Amino acid sequence: MNILNLYASLNGQTEKVALEIERACADAGCDVKTINVGKQDLELDLLRNDLTFMGSGVYTWLPGKRMLKWIDRQLASARDRNLILPGSPRLPGKFACVYCTYAGPHTGEAEATPAIKYMGQLFDHLGVTVADEWAIPGAFVPENKRHLNTSGRLGNIEGRPNEHDLMQVRERARGLIESLRSPAANESLR
Ligand SMILES: Cc1cc2nc3c(=O)[nH]c(=O)nc-3n(C[C@H](O)[C@H](O)[C@H](O)COP(=O)(O)O)c2cc1C
Repeated sequence: MNILNLYASLNGQTEKVALEIERACADAGCDVKTINVGKQDLELDLLRNDLTFMGSGVYTWLPGKRMLKWIDRQLASARDRNLILPGSPRLPGKFACVYCTYAGPHTGEAEATPAIKYMGQLFDHLGVTVADEWAIPGAFVPENKRHLNTSGRLGNIEGRPNEHDLMQVRERARGLIESLRSPAANESLR
C-alpha cells in the first residue's frame, strides 16, 4: 500500500502524531512518504496514493494557517485540472484519514470537529473516501497559554499527546490499513 502522510504543525504536537503514523505504516509494510506541508511548498498529486493521512493543530476551530493555505492551493490546482466533478464520484481504492490535535479549551471536542471536516472535504470533493477521522488532545505549548491545559473542557491535558495517545494512534493506523487491505474495502466502492 502506498501512503502519503501530510501534516502541518506549529508547535510540534501534530508532528508527534504524524511521526507515529509513519512508524505504524512502515511496520505494516507500506511504502510511506511523510511531508510537513507548512515547510515544503509542494504541489502534490493527492490521487496517486492508496491512503493519505492529513493532520493539523486546531486554531479557532479550524486547521492552522499553513494547512489552510496549502488546502487552498491544492483546491485551485484540482479545479484547474477539472478533477472536481459534480457529485464527486468515488475513486475506487482511494482513501484518506484526517485528524487533528487540539486542546478544546472552550467547547471541548466540538472545537476539533470543524477542523477535521474542513480537511476531509478536500478529499471528499476529489472522490477520495474519508475512511477515518481522529481528534487527539494536544496541550498548549506556549507558556502564556499553558494555564488552559488544566482549566478547559477536556480537563487536564498536560503532556498530551502522551505515550498512551500515541499507542492508540499506532493501533488505529494499523487497524485502518488492515481494513483497507481487505478486498471488500475496494469492491464496495466499485
Ligand atoms: C495560539 C493558539 C491558539 C489555539 N487555539 C485553539 C483553539 O481554538 N481550539 C483548540 O481546540 N485548540 C487550540 N489550540 C491548541 C492547539 O490546537 C493544540 O495545542 C495542538 O496540539 C497544536 O498542534 P501543533 O503544535 O501541531 O500545531 C491553540 C494553540 C495555540 C498555540
